[in-house]
Amino acid sequence: MRITFFSAKPYDRETFNRLNESFGFELIYFETHLGPHIINAVDQTDAVCAFVNDKLNAEVLNELALKGVKVVAMRCAGFNNVDLEVAKRLGIRICRVPAYSPEAVAEHAVAMLLTLNRKTHKAYNRVREQNFSLNGLLGFNVHGKTVGVLGTGNIGTSFCKIMLGFGCRVVAFDLMPNPELSKLGVTYLPKEEVFKCADILSLHCPLNESTHHIINREAIALMKKGVMLVNTSRGGLIDTKAAIDALKSKQIGYLGLDVYEHEGQLFFRDLSANIIEDDTIQRLMSFPNVLITAHQAFLTEEALRQIAVTTLKSVHELLHGESLSVKSALVV
Ligand code: NAI
Repeated sequence: MRITFFSAKPYDRETFNRLNESFGFELIYFETHLGPHIINAVDQTDAVCAFVNDKLNAEVLNELALKGVKVVAMRCAGFNNVDLEVAKRLGIRICRVPAYSPEAVAEHAVAMLLTLNRKTHKAYNRVREQNFSLNGLLGFNVHGKTVGVLGTGNIGTSFCKIMLGFGCRVVAFDLMPNPELSKLGVTYLPKEEVFKCADILSLHCPLNESTHHIINREAIALMKKGVMLVNTSRGGLIDTKAAIDALKSKQIGYLGLDVYEHEGQLFFRDLSANIIEDDTIQRLMSFPNVLITAHQAFLTEEALRQIAVTTLKSVHELLHGESLSVKSALVV
């Protein structure tokens, strides 16, 4: 049985090849995104394995169905880039990796928070240039601050626990509060109240119709002046233009982004010799208090291993008509 991969990087190949030894699939890798332009590359394949910026719209899914693809395995948690209605109608099963290492993403959010605050990225470059001055490196104690969390699923829960360990007051909003977190000391509040009281706000909810631009002009206006905003979830949660205006007015004091609304044309590639057409990301990169990483929060050895194991297992089970051992891996 053959699985065709898109957006496959060397670290994907290495991990999947190693873990495939016990499954015995034939694995075909393409580094390019999945989209209408590459659909002809899909040949006699039982399953397609895709990633966060692959396009699985009606056109692509129809073509995949015509080519006999039975399963689309998302090797990520989110599936906002898949037209689920169309997949369902075509009988293509969609699976994902619901929780592969929530700690990997939560720890990256904390890394961004600490870097923005203590400016270790600037200090590193300064000292290498023999500039031992401390001017401009002033930070604040995270201990005692109020940290707001939007979405307390797997990643949000891990993030809350870390911030409780830092001695922060943690307030959260989720459609389904987690009683375990309440017991640990997290206070659930309405979304607007979280916006109002947070010194630091971290986003951990999925991107869907109800969360698209959940951080818009109105939400930002409710926040404390100089708030730190960290997004390791999906770029579409933030209205980027509104965030840029808020950076200019200093309403947002620090912005950490591991994801970006229009990352599809940029992230996961080396564009260092190219002219970047996207003026919005160029403007974001011009702020001294903005830190951008290119969707790397998941990138730990433990997470890659778990992604490969769950993906290969789910594809094996779906192609053999078995029920999934990781129940929440099944999307449709
Ligand atoms: P999860 O499904 O365990 O948790 C999501 C939580 O958000 C749930 O508790 C849900 O009730 C809540 N939620 C849904 N709608 C909401 C709303 N309107 N307002 C507030 N909360 C809402 O998902 P998990 O594993 O924690 O992942 C969260 C997101 O992180 C994923 O959807 C994905 O987009 C992103 N992610 C980013 C990665 C990266 O490398 N940067 C890697 C993995 C995930």
